[in-house]
Amino acid sequence: MNYYIDAVIFDLDGVITDTAEYHFLAWKALADQLDISIDREFNENLKGVSRLDSLELILKHGNRQNDFSLLEKETLANQKNELYCHYLTNLSPEDILPGIPELIRNIKEEGILIGVASVSKNAGTVLQALGLNLTFDYCVDAAKIKRSKPDPEIFLTACEKLNVDPKKSIGIEDAVVGIDAITASGMFAVGVGNILDKADYKVENTKQLEWTKIKKAYTNLINVNN
Ligand code: BG6
Ligand code: MG
Repeated sequence: MNYYIDAVIFDLDGVITDTAEYHFLAWKALADQLDISIDREFNENLKGVSRLDSLELILKHGNRQNDFSLLEKETLANQKNELYCHYLTNLSPEDILPGIPELIRNIKEEGILIGVASVSKNAGTVLQALGLNLTFDYCVDAAKIKRSKPDPEIFLTACEKLNVDPKKSIGIEDAVVGIDAITASGMFAVGVGNILDKADYKVENTKQLEWTKIKKAYTNLINVNN
């Protein structure tokens, strides 16, 4: 039996475009400056985590968590953001990840709503640079979110604003905390990447995000649960 799907909520960085890589490069430059070594494996812990929380994790990793005042931390976070924004100036519609345009088109053809749930305060700039600023039915304003992922607040806000039932909605994420947030909101969790074992449906890369397969996985799970 097929079940109706209300909405699909996308994470942005690392799902719609590869800005996750720009975040990593900007954090790495700052960490190098602070004599803290971070690699791509450590960076997995930063995905989906807010700017200041990411800085805290990096400082802790380098055992420098007590070396800076809040004001100094804000200055460091701003410095990272300036470099990140510099990378964003290269961003164009060609940087939308493979499979995403088709996925968005297929979902919209069925009249299903789409939203963006990113904790990035640069989400608007990124969507604009990708030419996707008018594509989504709703984009959550990260500045208004009190509790970061893995708290479900951001996904529940997207569902509320779209006036849809989370239990009939799907979230797509590349971060461990993002999958936890989707699951905690009661939505069906689609994970992109190799480390997302808790996702309800998992693909290795965005090219494999095929709408028919996602719908089938969603329907199968609902059938098992009923
Ligand atoms: C998330 C990214 O989408 O946004 C994190 O996965 C990033 O890496 C966070 O730290 C906050 O982004 P910004 O643009 O507000 O610094
Ligand atoms: Mg992400």
